[in-house]
Amino acid sequence: MALLEVEDIRASYGLIEALHGVSLEVEAGEVVTMIGSNGAGKSTVLRSISGLTPARQGAIRFDGEEITHLTPMEIVGRGISHVPEGRRCFPRMTVRENLELGAFLRRDDSSAEMDHVFDLFPRLAERQSQAAGTMSGGEQQMLAIGRAMMARPRLLLMDEPSMGIAPILVERIYETIEQISQEGTTILLVEQNAHYGLGVAARGYVIETGRIILSGEAATIGEDPKVREAYLGA
Ligand SMILES: Nc1ncnc2c1ncn2[C@@H]1O[C@H](COP(=O)(O)OP(=O)(O)OP(=O)(O)O)[C@@H](O)[C@H]1O
Ligand SMILES: [Mg+2]
Repeated sequence: MALLEVEDIRASYGLIEALHGVSLEVEAGEVVTMIGSNGAGKSTVLRSISGLTPARQGAIRFDGEEITHLTPMEIVGRGISHVPEGRRCFPRMTVRENLELGAFLRRDDSSAEMDHVFDLFPRLAERQSQAAGTMSGGEQQMLAIGRAMMARPRLLLMDEPSMGIAPILVERIYETIEQISQEGTTILLVEQNAHYGLGVAARGYVIETGRIILSGEAATIGEDPKVREAYLGA
């Protein structure tokens, strides 16, 4: 049994259906990527898993239990954290305050999680009392990932961590994603930039207009002629 099982989900915004029956699986310990272009439905898949845009049909199971209709809070409580597209840090709050919000479901002291995040991203430790809104885009992405890690997730959902960030900082962020994976967190990573997604993941899915059109080993997907032309600029 896979840690995450998404079975034939449909999701809509008003009358417009964005996902027309999407299925995917993530095994415990894996890094899986989903690649696709603008508007393909990548964010909607992640939003359905985390309960922000609940699936109208189909089922989502985590660790064998159905979570399709749980609230976002309940889903975080089960061990799934979502790093949203565009980072969504609270700009007037400090780095430390943003991180503390990520731990809001943990009743106990969160200093161990905070230390872990500062170990993952030393830059955040240096900037603890800086207002999040004054940090660079790459630093805010680190903060968004750090905030999600404060909940000690078993599954981390990441939505385009490379978006709008200078390549040197993207490299740094991807090194940390590998470290988070090696420490045992399972990762489902959405990317428009297929180079990054396929570089870190063992398996992948390609989504187009709300449907999975291809899945398999990341290396195999990277060699697919259509993928090379559409997503790798070859
Ligand atoms: N809040 C919304 N209201 C109406 N339609 C929406 C909303 N959010 C997304 N959609 C539509 O749902 C479809 C899938 O969007 P989604 O954001 O999941 O794509 P995406 O693959 O994440 O794209 P991008 O790479 O640009 O982030 C698109 O047609 C989009 O226009
Ligand atoms: Mg998106």
